[in-house]
Amino acid sequence: MKAIIPSAGLGTRFLPVTKAQPKEMLPVLDKPIMQYVIEEAAAGGAEEILLVTGRGKRAIEDHFDRSAELEQILSQKGSEWLAAVQQVAELPQLYYVRQKSPLGLGHAVRCGAAFTNSEPFYVLLGDIVVPRRDILPKLAAVYAQTGASVIAVERVPDELIDRYGIVGVEPCKELGEGCYQVNALVEKPAPDDAPSDLAIMGRYLLTPHLMELLENTTPGEGGEIQLTDALVALLADEPLYAVEIAPQASFDTGNVLSWLEANITLALRDERYADDLKELLADLLSGERAHD
Ligand code: G1P
Repeated sequence: MKAIIPSAGLGTRFLPVTKAQPKEMLPVLDKPIMQYVIEEAAAGGAEEILLVTGRGKRAIEDHFDRSAELEQILSQKGSEWLAAVQQVAELPQLYYVRQKSPLGLGHAVRCGAAFTNSEPFYVLLGDIVVPRRDILPKLAAVYAQTGASVIAVERVPDELIDRYGIVGVEPCKELGEGCYQVNALVEKPAPDDAPSDLAIMGRYLLTPHLMELLENTTPGEGGEIQLTDALVALLADEPLYAVEIAPQASFDTGNVLSWLEANITLALRDERYADDLKELLADLLSGERAHD
């Protein structure tokens, strides 16, 4: 299986941090965001991964490259970090292509047409961290039964509906619990125009026909070529399925508050930090630690 990870966005919601470094390289706990995304793709069976990058994203390539010099120094010192550094270099084969102009998510995915070469492929958005590892396997299971495209969806509160692609669905229990057939999609609708509260949350398994449709997809919401619009066109030709994942299973790390939430949540789940962090948070909230 191949995977495309669009990661060409400018990171404007995170300026000035992202002025000279890619938003995908910001840390969540002790790893860059992109490492979580690539590890998730690998766990979902992706053996070749294409990163669609843009200007100013070279740090991503450096991070996933082998660093023989650093490994040698850590090895000589008997450093506990050697394994973590080696693990990065053992991830699946990565390929890179540049999206030369920021024409939208649909255009970024289309930049991978020669890479996917008429095969089905995953798309994982490069700024969404999903700690659980069962989402891509669920998409793959529905694809194995139907041969059709499948997207992961998550229920969102009304006030967040206009930030997402929203789907209209019919339950499809024969495919499993939480599975739906999609009958409508709208990119970033006003809450009154939304067909449901199920939002596309950045994980897709797409058929080659979707790649063909992207060729003729014209700019939509925000003046950008939208992946959601190509999925609307797909509905006329092929079925499209959705798998609902647990609410709040994903972190949109492209904005500061959600990035902070990702850091705190993962630290609270990590035995190296959990107890100390709980104490620290309690002291901060009670005013015992004030930092004035
Ligand atoms: C993109 C997609 C949207 C999806 C969202 C998930 O929007 O266009 O359909 O719901 O990712 O984060 P963006 O966040 O890039 O504006």
